[in-house]
Amino acid sequence: MTAQLLEMPTCGFVATAARSEQLIASSERRTLDPFREVDWEIALDDSAYYLPPEMLALFGTEAWDAMSEVGRIEYSRHETAAMFGAGIWFENALMQIVLRHLVEIDVRDPMHRYLLTEIADECRHSMMFGEFIRRAGTPAYGPTRDVAMVQGPSGRAMSYLAILAIEELLDFANRASMRDDRVHPMVRQISRLHVLEEARHVSFAKSYISESWPTLDAVEQESVRAIAPALVAEIVELSLDPQVFEHLGIADGYEIAKANLSYRANVVDGLGKLTSFLTEVGIIDDTESWIELGLVGRHAAD
Ligand SMILES: [Fe+2]
Ligand SMILES: [Fe+2]
Repeated sequence: MTAQLLEMPTCGFVATAARSEQLIASSERRTLDPFREVDWEIALDDSAYYLPPEMLALFGTEAWDAMSEVGRIEYSRHETAAMFGAGIWFENALMQIVLRHLVEIDVRDPMHRYLLTEIADECRHSMMFGEFIRRAGTPAYGPTRDVAMVQGPSGRAMSYLAILAIEELLDFANRASMRDDRVHPMVRQISRLHVLEEARHVSFAKSYISESWPTLDAVEQESVRAIAPALVAEIVELSLDPQVFEHLGIADGYEIAKANLSYRANVVDGLGKLTSFLTEVGIIDDTESWIELGLVGRHAAD
């Protein structure tokens, strides 16, 4: 495979082209249709939590203590719908980024077919998240702002870094949900499907970032290092929707959630795989701004 790849146009990224071939083969072995895999007939009747309680942004606060069990489960339904709504927005952003990138990739490079496969995965995921929201009886939560995109090599590295941050954060919540038998079976099925398919996307993004990073010049690398923490902080910000608390009438819910130590610890843990990967690659060489923004724990940096 390697000899054949060397003769192919690979946009200069031979390792990522080889990884793409593996990921195409893996997609052929297992690509899941949410309208077959998920049992949509199970009622969303608040008989179970929709996320593990510890993953909810208000968990452990006074506002949480003041809620009844029924109220907590209802709140978990809204927060899950908001998480999936943000997922749809993020996947839309990702598809726009990847579609633009595809214009520049030689169709003979395996990356071309792989990235189209990834877009097809995201199309199905967004349909799946949308189906949950339609059945959950909640408002259509989610960011509404435009997707800002930076072009050029450093913009591209930044884009895949953003994609990876989104994927790792969602993966953290998905993994906790799929294993937890307190969680509603529909959410567990959705989470399992998403974890299985996102593993390929994470693998591609890591390969692309690792291989493209050393090709950036010092100025480009410095700009990525400087912007990355604010970009990841923005992704975290977009993942918590103030409309949930407004809709449910939880006074100061958004502010309480943001200050909640349990929520903040979940953010740090959810970003753990991303931040250790970025440290390994050399994109994080000074953790101070990451710590200040609450993306890396003080203890983890010691
Ligand atoms: Fe996805
Ligand atoms: Fe993805």
